[in-house]
Amino acid sequence: MSDENQVELEARLEEQEVFEPSEEFVAQANVSDPDIYEEFEENWPQSWERAAEMIDWDESYDEVLDDSNPPFYKWFTGGKLNASYNCVDRHVENGDKNRVAIKWEGEHGETRTYTYQDLYREVNEFAAALRAQGVEEDDVVTLYMPMVPELPIAMLACARIGAPHSVVFAGFSAEALATRMNSADSRCLVTCDGYYRRGDALDHLDKANEGLDGVDHGVDSVVVVDRLGEDGFDHELRGNQHDWDDLMAEHAGERVEPVERDAEDMLFLMYTSGTTGQPKGVKHTTGGYLSYATWTSHAVLDIEKEDTYWCSADIGWITGHSYIVYGPLALGTTTVMYEGTPDFPNRDRLWDIIEKYAVDIFYTAPTAIRAFMKWGSRFPEQHDLSSLRLLGTVGEPINPRAWKWYYKHIGNEECPVVDTWWQTETGGMMVTTLPGVCDMKPGSAGPPLPGIDAQIVDTSGTEVDAGRAGYLTVNKPWPGMLRTLYKNDERFVQEYWQEYSDVNSDDSDDWVYFPEDGAKVDDDGYITVLGRVDDVINVSGHRLGTMEIESAIVGVEGVAEAAVVGANHELKGEAVYAYVITEDGAEGGEELRGRIIEGVEDAIGPIARPEEVVFTPELPKTRSGKIMRRLLEDVANGEELGNTSTLRNPEIVDTIARQVEQQRN
Ligand code: WTA
Repeated sequence: MSDENQVELEARLEEQEVFEPSEEFVAQANVSDPDIYEEFEENWPQSWERAAEMIDWDESYDEVLDDSNPPFYKWFTGGKLNASYNCVDRHVENGDKNRVAIKWEGEHGETRTYTYQDLYREVNEFAAALRAQGVEEDDVVTLYMPMVPELPIAMLACARIGAPHSVVFAGFSAEALATRMNSADSRCLVTCDGYYRRGDALDHLDKANEGLDGVDHGVDSVVVVDRLGEDGFDHELRGNQHDWDDLMAEHAGERVEPVERDAEDMLFLMYTSGTTGQPKGVKHTTGGYLSYATWTSHAVLDIEKEDTYWCSADIGWITGHSYIVYGPLALGTTTVMYEGTPDFPNRDRLWDIIEKYAVDIFYTAPTAIRAFMKWGSRFPEQHDLSSLRLLGTVGEPINPRAWKWYYKHIGNEECPVVDTWWQTETGGMMVTTLPGVCDMKPGSAGPPLPGIDAQIVDTSGTEVDAGRAGYLTVNKPWPGMLRTLYKNDERFVQEYWQEYSDVNSDDSDDWVYFPEDGAKVDDDGYITVLGRVDDVINVSGHRLGTMEIESAIVGVEGVAEAAVVGANHELKGEAVYAYVITEDGAEGGEELRGRIIEGVEDAIGPIARPEEVVFTPELPKTRSGKIMRRLLEDVANGEELGNTSTLRNPEIVDTIARQVEQQRN
């Protein structure tokens, strides 16, 4: 293309606000009939049978939705099924045993391929091993593992015997592991000796062992995957620790009948950050969750079993649960797993993987796209990406520039981009375009999916006009929704429902789910999600509670008080800013800053590491003693300061602003 044409094209793209999917895409799309929205509305909740029909039931359900006791909704009640059967056995039985289920690539380039038959064998053997370790139905098994194939195998083995799994992101600290095992009263852990990050072998078992030391109850059994082989760190396995391969050898060839689970039985627990310091154990069920993850994988990600599909998230987060493991495998497709970082050994690693496996569908996070943009289009240009048919993003708002870059440089202006809004709690996608039906508007996620009833309201719950900012709410239940917070119904009601519901009513219409996100809607009903309105910050698409970070900082010797806010960050979306008051007004120097950072890494993990630690003699507080976080955010963002007249100590804000300015230079 001539330079002139190129310039013209860029200018056109920059101004374009609406993008249509190509006829070619629509013609082959899993969902392409626009009437689907109306059908769902007119026949609600019965229309959700469409989702349930995507999976096999041992016993069919009696009722689609039981809403007699809101907000404790039940879906597909009376139905019986097994998630592992749906993700594995049924494909083996249906003539797809030789189809590839998982394509795994290690950071150093080694690969492993599991057909559905391979997966069937390994899931069965590990299920037998877990049973032999004493794991029974409904026991919570904690999986603290990096991106190795043994992780989805362990998840499916748990599902097979009806033991809910609780996956803890491998990047989390020992303390975070202990907190989650304690909270779930989990007595079995599956972990790994280590993994590779940017070429280096990391010692994971050391962290796992430290976490185990912090578990308050007895741990019956620990299984350790040997990932590093000769690069391993020479740990002696403790008394209750077993080598994965040894157990698999012991149970070679064994078969375990998938346990019949009730639709409402727990499939897994996933801990996520909230407003208080304690992570919340989000409970997902077998029937509703699996149907929902599978349905959205089909309708939004347009996955077909012939596809090679790749979601570059980590299975340690909900995105990996729903859209690396459960949804794609239930559909019988090939799901790609990559162990490492996108810039190892070079900044074209992801494009190299797409070319190598001829990936059809690629799903990633805006924070990654912003990094790719910064590295430049010459990296994707080195590769043939023409196998791609659809692109997706998740985790945080994507700005139109990044959207267009992704559309042009990765999708060659031929692939629709789905910007999918959802949460750990929603189980699957909620607000996004259906790629075979809708036009796309960069920066806006799209309309609510069929059957999802979302509204933007003001603080009193009244719907706001198009274009005005308000709060996102969901007015009807959906099958993938969390059922409660583990062993804490009260907090469940308080966190998600209290704000906009009539909590004394048993009429489902009076109950409104509040995801704690701000949003606005345009005249076409397209929703733009603006970000969290609670004390949660979103760093590179990872949810972190400011309270969790604050309590870690206050635990550091020499710190009296701390306030943490999220500040805009070019690559991460948001970055952690910590404002710290030292004990006795002591000077905060480099040494203390170092210990604060270490304290946060120990309590949560490196993802929560503060970008800036600002020492200050005071924090801006209202007369009633509440910290004014908004002002601290303004300071961190270098913005004009908001109204300080309600402060008890208005002068402090300028002092802090100067300090931040100095630290930046
Ligand atoms: C944010 C990740 C804007 C949002 C699946 C939500 C988004 C939180 C989008 C959930 C999006 C996720 N546009 N914001 N497409 N997707 N978010 O639980 O604030 O890790 O509440 O689930 O991420 O994060 P979580």
